Amino acid sequence: MKKIFSVKVITLFPDSFPGTLGLGVIGKAFKNKLWKLQTIDIRSFGKGNHNKVDDTTAGGGPGMILKADVLSGAIDKSLKNIKDKKKMPIIYLSPRGKPLTQSKVKKLSKNDGIILLCGRYEGVDQRALDKYKIEEVSLGDFILAGGEIAAQATLEAIIRLIPGVLGDSESLNNESFSSDLLEYPQYTRPRMWKNIEIPQVLNSGNHKKIDAWRKDMSKKLTKKNRPDLWEKHKKKQDIK
Ligand SMILES: C[S@@+](CC[C@H](N)C(=O)[O-])C[C@H]1O[C@@H](n2cnc3c(N)ncnc32)[C@H](O)[C@@H]1O
Repeated sequence: MKKIFSVKVITLFPDSFPGTLGLGVIGKAFKNKLWKLQTIDIRSFGKGNHNKVDDTTAGGGPGMILKADVLSGAIDKSLKNIKDKKKMPIIYLSPRGKPLTQSKVKKLSKNDGIILLCGRYEGVDQRALDKYKIEEVSLGDFILAGGEIAAQATLEAIIRLIPGVLGDSESLNNESFSSDLLEYPQYTRPRMWKNIEIPQVLNSGNHKKIDAWRKDMSKKLTKKNRPDLWEKHKKKQDIK
């Protein structure tokens, strides 16, 4: 039987899903049952008459924290009926986490699915993260208001790597980061636009020359925009 990549999102805003994941190739893959989605509403595990989910910061300080007992109810629900928990990692989207990279995305796409915890307010009670050994992953060095957009970005990156989601898997090999290099500039017809011509080599029909040009452009762009990646690439290729 065909395996369906299982996505579970723990959030205070279940209505924000599938969001952009319902569109384009990812949306088509959803309709074709290459992946499935369950949202778990943190609010439904809230306490008291007002379904309270948060409380003030222990030790003082601004903002509110999502409560550990509330989160554990939601996490337990997400873990129900999972046979192999090792193949269903739980990730908390958090600016404190290790930055998400394409190699991490590749690893995550090989699992049976993923559980994503979206924070809000000042974050979540650390004990919930420790108790369930939840890994923290960041989208970058900036602060969002909540984890929902980070979760959608993470899921989009993972789902497009699931076999059958993208038509031309060749395009995955040339993408930025596939060899620690950024992708070369791309062009399409018309050949001349607003008096700007596409690089002549691309019209030469000489595939060796085109490949060499693209490699050269990739290197130049990486050197300029991402010196950190360029250093990594140089080390791997033993370039002085
Ligand atoms: C306002 S933020 C909390 C920021 C937290 N007080 C801190 O300084 O690290 C609320 C939620 O947004 C999400 N979030 C914010 N920035 C993020 C990022 N760069 N990557 C992933 N998730 C992020 C997290 O789920 C976080 O719990």
